Amino acid sequence: MSRRKKKLWYVPEGTEPTDFQKRMMAAEASGAIVPSPKLIKTEEQIEGIRLSGMVNTGVLDAVAAQIHAGMSTEEIDRIVYSYTVSHGAIPAPLHYEGFPKSVCTSINEVVCHGIPNNFDILKEGDIINVDVSTILDGYYSDASRMFVIGKTSPEKQRLVDCAKECLEIGMEAAKPWSFLSDIGYAITKHAHEAGFSVVRDLCGHGVGLEFHEDPDVEHYAKKPGQGMMLVPGMVFTIEPMINMGTWRVFIDAADNWTVVTEDELPSAQWEHTFVMREHGLEILTH
Ligand code: MF3
Ligand code: CO
Repeated sequence: MSRRKKKLWYVPEGTEPTDFQKRMMAAEASGAIVPSPKLIKTEEQIEGIRLSGMVNTGVLDAVAAQIHAGMSTEEIDRIVYSYTVSHGAIPAPLHYEGFPKSVCTSINEVVCHGIPNNFDILKEGDIINVDVSTILDGYYSDASRMFVIGKTSPEKQRLVDCAKECLEIGMEAAKPWSFLSDIGYAITKHAHEAGFSVVRDLCGHGVGLEFHEDPDVEHYAKKPGQGMMLVPGMVFTIEPMINMGTWRVFIDAADNWTVVTEDELPSAQWEHTFVMREHGLEILTH
């Protein structure tokens, strides 16, 4: 195996590097894993992703206003599709790697990537993740929320609340010039203290110019201070999936998409798209 590693940060001979470039070159020289220059978004790109995020938030608000017991997940898909296209945007999941619908709807023991259909009818006590991703003028945004249908059990409500806290705690742990595993470490600690587990097989991701970019944002970590350096200008999601029982999951062989907990106990997830700033994370999917 080659030990060669391509240098990511350099300026042409005779060019004076900016303070930012100097900082990146020093970090890379010290042996840190640093993001490549293309992962650092320009202000123009960040504004494009923010506008995409505003449509994405509008979609989630439209779902929030209409979701109810007795409704099929297919109806949620229709709300997402029509809101998105009527705002000049495209639902990113539609035909993404063969995904057949405009949104992921994941009920109870479904962890993520549930496919909307006419037969899954929401009922009192269900918890559902609605994961919406939008392309506007070529810019991608990605966010998801949990919805509780009517009133659910105290244990499922606690899971939904804990997953939301995990997103907030992960966000606070993401300090500029710190490292990716600080996020997963903080999330893992909080979930375990609540008696829940963290899904390891799926992660957050860079986003913006494509649906899924580097780096992988893992929500499970044993140690802080590891992985890629978090640098101002990076745009990525945090989207912890928190399980009531085991962290282990399987993919439903019937559709090759639906991710289900191995013990079929419930799972909950919340997601935002963020840009790293000099002072910490800013939400682009408010
Ligand atoms: N929205 C998911 C995420 O948070 C990705 C879904 S891929 C799809 O990364 F094809 F299922 F839509
Ligand atoms: Co995502």
